Order: sequence, then C-alpha cells, then structure tokens
Amino acid sequence: MRMPAGAFAERGADLELVGIQKRFPGFTAIENLDLTIPAGSFFALLGPSGCGKTTTLRLVAGLEEPTAGRILIGGADVTGQKPHQRPVNTVFQSYALFPHMSIIENVAFGLRRRRIPDPSGKAHEALRLVELDHLAQRKPQQLSGGQQQRVALARAIVNRPALLLLDEPLGALDLKLRRQMQLELKSIQEEVGLTFLHVTHDQEEAMTMADTVAVMNKGRIEQLGAPEQLYELPKTAFVANFLGQSNLFTGQVAGTTSEAISVDINGQPIIVALPRAHRHTGDVTIGVRPEKVSLHLDKPVTDAARNLVGPGRVIDVSFSGVSTQYLVAVPGVGTMVVFAQNMAFGPVAQEGTEVWLSWNIEHGFGLEDDPADVNAEAPKFPADTDTRSIAAQKRDALISELEEG
Ligand SMILES: Nc1ncnc2c1ncn2[C@@H]1O[C@H](COP(=O)(O)OP(=O)(O)OP(=O)(O)O)[C@@H](O)[C@H]1O
Ligand SMILES: [Mg+2]
Repeated sequence: MRMPAGAFAERGADLELVGIQKRFPGFTAIENLDLTIPAGSFFALLGPSGCGKTTTLRLVAGLEEPTAGRILIGGADVTGQKPHQRPVNTVFQSYALFPHMSIIENVAFGLRRRRIPDPSGKAHEALRLVELDHLAQRKPQQLSGGQQQRVALARAIVNRPALLLLDEPLGALDLKLRRQMQLELKSIQEEVGLTFLHVTHDQEEAMTMADTVAVMNKGRIEQLGAPEQLYELPKTAFVANFLGQSNLFTGQVAGTTSEAISVDINGQPIIVALPRAHRHTGDVTIGVRPEKVSLHLDKPVTDAARNLVGPGRVIDVSFSGVSTQYLVAVPGVGTMVVFAQNMAFGPVAQEGTEVWLSWNIEHGFGLEDDPADVNAEAPKFPADTDTRSIAAQKRDALISELEEG
C-alpha cells in the first residue's frame, strides 16, 4: 500500500533507508545502510563519535544527498525531495529559538508562515504538552536551558511532522534534568504517536527511551533490537563493550551437544548454551556480563548448570553505592570484572582475597565475530566520551569561534 507521506502525519510514518551510502570527498561516512523504522516507534541510533549518526539524520531530513540508495517515508520515495517538502522535523542540539520573539510566537512562527489556521491555539496546545504554557509570554533568554529545550520540542511537534528527528537534543542538560526530560520525551511521543528517531552517545538514554536501539559503528549498524535483547545477547564485541561492560574470552570449541558448546580457554572449559552462541565450531569469542557473575570465598560444589573458574585473586575493589566492582585475576582466563550488589555493609572480599567465580551457563553468550577480527581490533574499546562533555566541548568551540569572528 503506497500512500502520500502527508496521510501518515497524524500517527507517524514508517521510515525506510534502502542501500544508503554517503561518501564525502575522501571519506565514506556510511557504507551501506538498510534500516526500517516502523510507524509510531521510538527508535534510537546509538554509537560513538564520528560513526555517522548525524549524517544519517541529515540524509533523512534532506540536508544531505545520498551517494547511493533511497529514502522512503510512509511508503513514498522522498530521496529527491527538498527538506521542506518532507514530513520531517528536526530538533538539533542548539535550540536556535528566535531571541526577540516570545515563546508562543516562536512556537507559532512556522504555522503562521505556512498560513495554517489558528496558529496561536495550536501553539498553546503544543506548549501545554511540554508543560510550559504558563511561560508563553516570556522571551527565550528568560527560560532555563531545559525549558528552552522543551520550547524547541514544542516548535517541532506543533507542525505534526510524521517523523521527528532528534540529534542529541538533551546533550546540554545536566544529568538529573536529562533523565527527567527523557521520561517527558517518551511520554510526549506516546501521547502524540509520532515516529521518533533519536540520536545519542548515551547508552543509558537509548536504553531507557527507545523501543528499538540500533548500535552504529563506523557507518554500519552492528546490531538492532529491543534494549534488553541487545544487552543480554550482544552479537559483536563492539556491542558487548559499547552497551555496558563484558568479560570476553577467546578459545576453541572443544565439544558440542544438542544443548551447549564447550569452549576451551587455556584448558579451562567454559560452557555456553547453544541458542546463545552464534558460532559453534573453531575459534570463538564468548562472554558474560559482570553482574551475572557470582563471587565465592570458598570453592563451591560443582554444578552442571554453572560455569566455575578459579581460584583467582581480587586485584581491585571499587565501591559505587548500589554495587561493588571487583577485578579478579584468574590464571589462564584473564582479569574478570564482577559487579556485586551491596546486600551487606562493605565489600565481601578485599584486595588479595582468593575467590572463585561462577555463572549460569544460560547467562553467557557467544559472539558472531571472528576472534581474529575481535583481537585485531583490540576487544577493549575505550569508554565513550559522555554526552555532556561533548556538548560542553561544542559549546566551548562555538564560543571561541564567536570570539574570533
Ligand atoms: N561534510 C563532510 N565532509 C567530510 N567528512 C564529513 C563531513 N560531514 C561528516 N563527515 C565525517 O563523517 C563521519 C560521520 O560524521 P557524523 O557527523 O555523522 O558523526 P556522528 O556519529 O554524528 O558523531 P558525533 O557523535 O560526534 O556527533 C565523521 O568521521 C565525519 O568526520
Ligand atoms: Mg553527531
């Protein structure tokens, strides 16, 4: 069924990217991107700096032309359309409100220009949605950063675009306000039923807000799925390390049953449930999340349902309130990270303590990556710079640019 894009404007539209490639002179930002975002969904594009997130949004908005491929919105091919012809609105990180206009005039501006009836009634409605109608007569500089952000959002949704693109829209806010705005954005999206495509560096933000998260790396989607699915069953080392932390091991498959594979890690067998292992033969990389691992002060009795490694030695203990992180050096296996909830006062093991580690074989996972590639790329990826510091850097850069000019 093909319908004009405008017909979807009330409930959001499907977005399809088909075989998209984007080459800049001397640099391929997007290799080959295929993506379908169902109507009415909250979709997050998550990835490190420079992986191609903004480029993807700019392509969808029509601010950039793809080198190859097509873009469809609500079934209609918009690849050749100008930005203003597309049923799309974008909220950029810099809110760009008109400083001389009141809040209500800012929100109604686009409606007036397009001669849409009752601009001020519609603008008030949008402001009520972001709970700012009581400040409608103020000027932007009389609002806080978070309030200005919400005005920018009201201005974007007042047009009822089928698709709303959000590029790090919460980057300039402090952590608490950011968390609060995440919940508000989510409820606004549910209320208005638009399709949201949200770009972020912040894995927690992506996981709490989105129905579907696509993890992007070097211009490609590494894995796409519901947040829990990505977290519990990462397919690649990149996803396993970008979305939270992982303990990864590489070894050869030594045995396979109908239920599990056994991987030989320097003579130590580690079992992974078969449906959770992407590769079943040869060299494989397997892993387990730190919170799935239990720490034992005495060697536990053998349990066929659990992997057991050790004894190892605690080499670092760091307390973080709700949990304690232990680094445990296990001979032959490597250094493992364990998160233990603080059920009692203080850590259960000190630096130097001898411990055993165990986890349910149903909690491990086996990656799709060829271990040769994983190790070539170095399995430990540096922690991504957090959104706030990037926003701060951008602001500093802007300020120095303005000062120079
Ligand atoms: N006009 C351009 N010419 C050449 N290269 C570009 C251009 N625009 C972007 N790039 C490159 O394309 C890559 C992707 O850029 P993009 O802005 O999409 O990254 P991003 O994922 O949004 O990163 P960030 O999280 O830092 O905003 C980067 O390596 C960037 O240097
Ligand atoms: Mg960007």
